[in-house]
Amino acid sequence: MRIRQVISAFVVILLALLICACADNSGKKATSPTVLMADSSYDNHSYSNISEVRTKHLDLELDVNFKNQTIYGVARHTIENLGADTVIFDIKNLEIQKITTGLDEEKETNFLIGEWDKDSLLGQPLLVKIEPTTKYVNIYYETTQKTEAIDWLPAELTDGKSHPYMYTQGQAILTRSWIPLQDSPANRLTYSAEVKVPKELMAVMSAKNEKQKNTEGKYKFKMDKPVPSYLIALAVGNLEYKALGKNCGVYTEPTNLKKAANEFSELPKMINAAEQLYGPYQWGQYDLLVLPNSFPFGGMENPCLTFVSPTVIAGDKSLTSVIAHELAHSWSGNLVTNASWEDFWLNEGFTVYFENRIMEVLYGKEIADMLLLIEFEELQDEIEKIENGEHPEDSKLKLNLAGRNPDDGMTDIAYVKGAFFLKTLENQIGRVKFDIFLKAYFTNNAFRNMSTERFVDYLNVHLLDIHNITFNSHEWIYSKGIPKNCLMISSPRFQSMEQLVKRFNSDEDIFDPVVKYVKVKGKKRKKKEIQQLKKSDFIAQEWLEFVRKLPDSIAVDRLKYLDKHAGFTKWNNAEIKTEWFTLAIRSGYKEIFPQIETFLKNVGRRKYLLPIYEELSRTQENLKWTKSVYAKAKINYHFVSKQSIDEILKIN
Ligand code: BES
Ligand code: ZN
Repeated sequence: MRIRQVISAFVVILLALLICACADNSGKKATSPTVLMADSSYDNHSYSNISEVRTKHLDLELDVNFKNQTIYGVARHTIENLGADTVIFDIKNLEIQKITTGLDEEKETNFLIGEWDKDSLLGQPLLVKIEPTTKYVNIYYETTQKTEAIDWLPAELTDGKSHPYMYTQGQAILTRSWIPLQDSPANRLTYSAEVKVPKELMAVMSAKNEKQKNTEGKYKFKMDKPVPSYLIALAVGNLEYKALGKNCGVYTEPTNLKKAANEFSELPKMINAAEQLYGPYQWGQYDLLVLPNSFPFGGMENPCLTFVSPTVIAGDKSLTSVIAHELAHSWSGNLVTNASWEDFWLNEGFTVYFENRIMEVLYGKEIADMLLLIEFEELQDEIEKIENGEHPEDSKLKLNLAGRNPDDGMTDIAYVKGAFFLKTLENQIGRVKFDIFLKAYFTNNAFRNMSTERFVDYLNVHLLDIHNITFNSHEWIYSKGIPKNCLMISSPRFQSMEQLVKRFNSDEDIFDPVVKYVKVKGKKRKKKEIQQLKKSDFIAQEWLEFVRKLPDSIAVDRLKYLDKHAGFTKWNNAEIKTEWFTLAIRSGYKEIFPQIETFLKNVGRRKYLLPIYEELSRTQENLKWTKSVYAKAKINYHFVSKQSIDEILKIN
């Protein structure tokens, strides 16, 4: 956004426009000086003028009203001003009531709401008139039915079915839809909040939280480490807490607490492993909040309180790498933050690398390698998709997302190509040196943002030059696809699964008992033994690999055979279910469509929904059924999931 140069002209225009009511926030055509569309800041997804004037601290007063599904709020900004006469905030679908300046004595000030961007992605700039001496800007506002960050859930859509629930999702650019602020990851602010909620509910935020509900329904929060705006988060529901270690625990609805505490019992070990690797955990407390089904992500790294999808509770700890991932963000992302959404790989690539290191400490290299290989396979599919898509340049690490949704950059490129860039670098340099580099990287850049360009400089100075090493970082970052020197990982246990798939493909009934004669030590005669393959012979990741390596489509009776012995349809592991369901759809295994329907109605995590909806939308016959399922299921999805599914099903 190139807004900055024209700000001073704003006052004149503002005065002219104030004559006709200034805050037309109701539709997409607001009072609209055309001057608003220019800015020279680094972030393509924020209107804010943070290089001139920025919020240092935010005080929130929030009244969470479930009856109207509205937050009535005051956002009190403490600003640092380098001499601007206007401060620009981002807003999206917010109702602005009034804006004042001052702390004890508030005085109303003029403001103006600019035009929407062409695709209504960014929302609108909110321009507020300030004096050089202004320190406090107070925005009185309400959220609306169109507020995209907030999911309001009636009691029926929660686990306990007895109390309503609400939560926010800020990343990437949705915080502006529930708080008027400068919504760029390039700025950091401390915040405090006073939140009023119905007495029977508890509020938690991305800050230090109380452990118990109080009787007044009033909660206070203080985040005194500066965070980027996308990490401000709130959830309100019928919550209970259980400690899992000295500085960690889990919040869930009471009905879920035992299961969750059990699933996440290794959290203290993960924190310990992470600290051993890259230095002390900087945020005090580390808790998890298990959300209702509609939560669109596996996890979201809100500081002090990671938000987690209930799908992570598989019952056998087979999906807890998600927790390692979100924990790792406490360093990569939350301490050192991508400067813009075009540098997203600096958040996610580092985090996938770090997550895998934590998993290696806890479960060993063999398992860690399997986890990475699963992701590498996904990367290869993603690259193929990108190459054949509208934006083949999206397989570069550094992206250009001007005029596009930052979500478009949320692909396996950032996550997995990013992680393999670091893996390859580690392999060339040696783990010891690489770990020293990474630890220092997090320490030296803590509570700051990082652009790709600055990272390249940092890497050269602090790693490559001092060890006199040449590395093709430029190719990794600025070229498409996977460079030739990419580290290849192999897994003997996955290779065995491939053998098993081969046997299955040649029509062998792999689960049927076989008679084997085995040698017994010290005896001449071999012993007769009946051997039978069992589901429990392999871990979830091995079975996932097995399903993946099956042919694109399979005779239905063979699928039934697998289901009978390995129970894929009933398995409470959503990774496996998703892989299995897409295969079932391709193969016309109609008998399990009711189970697919149940899954679509109960799971809100976008990663699982999209492949299933995509597969279902390939034939006209399925598409009709799918649309009717979606019509019933979507009440249980967050806005971000609905937005993506609407695109797949070409709705609107
Ligand atoms: N920060 C992301 C989620 C996110 C990214 C939300 C971009 C909105 C915009 C989170 O850390 C994440 O990566 N979640 C993954 C988990 C995984 C890779 C283990 C997910 O939800 O699938
Ligand atoms: Zn992540």
